Amino acid sequence: MVADPEAGGESCFAVSDGRFSAIGENVPAARRVDLGGATVLPGLVDCHTHLVYAGDRCSEHALRLGGASYEEIARAGGGILSTVEAVRTATETDLVEAALPRAHALIREGVTVLEIKSGYGLDLDNELKLLKAIRRLGEQLPIRVRATFLGAHAVPPGRTRGEYLREVVDEMLPIVAAENLADAVDIFVETIGFDLTDLSELAQAADRHGLPLRVHAEQLSAMGASGMAARLGVTSCDHLEFARPDDVAAMAECGTVAVLLPGAFYFLRETQRPPVEAFRGAGVRMAVASDLNPGSSPIASLLICMHMACTLFGLTASEALEAVTRHGAAAMGMEKTAGIVDVGRPADFTVWDLPSPQHLVYQLGGLTPTAVYAGGNRL
Ligand code: NIG
Ligand code: FE
Repeated sequence: MVADPEAGGESCFAVSDGRFSAIGENVPAARRVDLGGATVLPGLVDCHTHLVYAGDRCSEHALRLGGASYEEIARAGGGILSTVEAVRTATETDLVEAALPRAHALIREGVTVLEIKSGYGLDLDNELKLLKAIRRLGEQLPIRVRATFLGAHAVPPGRTRGEYLREVVDEMLPIVAAENLADAVDIFVETIGFDLTDLSELAQAADRHGLPLRVHAEQLSAMGASGMAARLGVTSCDHLEFARPDDVAAMAECGTVAVLLPGAFYFLRETQRPPVEAFRGAGVRMAVASDLNPGSSPIASLLICMHMACTLFGLTASEALEAVTRHGAAAMGMEKTAGIVDVGRPADFTVWDLPSPQHLVYQLGGLTPTAVYAGGNRL
């Protein structure tokens, strides 16, 4: 492939057996594709989504536009629990079919690695149904899909938090792990979710099953979950609007990735911004993801979220690009296999008819790559 003969950087690369096999000035190749001086970027990584769900929460959006808060709606039995009701009546096939257009919207923008969480089942059968739907999407889509078990997303009606967490830890997780239905585990630590004791219990259980943990932390209030999670060895802390200096310090010390979700911040009309300056100063890697879900971020566009990461959170264009490539991969423990164009890595890349990568966060809407390649195949 000839990428950019005019540019000062590398101008050619070769792909063989689905991987980048050479990068340089004049690499040998059996078949050459002239990309005509286009900008080539790694395949994009959307490292945090909940895109397998049924129904919608359009009426809640109307309530929130009228002044109700996300927490108020959740405490009144709406929010995540209303999606749980819809998911429980859907079949695995319904879920796959509803999710496909959302996944394809992301792929059209250049996403080649996609993470999807469960968390709208909240009992064994329905959590397994969601995870199986995610695995099926992985088989049907031409990109890499990673599944995360988020059984600890909300407390189902009629159960106490402690009772339900026991079920997640003692009953669901062993089956999820034994059936290889998840690549990671996640928990929502919040006043309307789970607490620090639950986090520590789930961390031990995930560890016993050899699964990495991630955490929804500091989205709506400061609970100290991100600092604690960093010390427990999670790969990423996600949301983080209310993270405090000691949380940032712990994440820096432990190499935890900060996943910023500006779509949820925007859609919920939050005002407290994550401490980007502090993350930058402390050398914490920042990722950005769509958080695509029906309640807090019905946004099937990683490019719009990158744009918002710049305009709302103050990331630079190059930080935003790293956030959806290298750092997104790191948030999933995939820094060795995704998010970068390098010899030996899977040949996931995107081709853009843009004067520079900065244009990705300049134009809002209507941008798509001219070509997307995953594992060396053009999609
Ligand atoms: O990442 N915060 C918790 N979970 C999701 C929202 C899920 C929902 O509202 O359906 C999030 O924002
Ligand atoms: Fe989320």
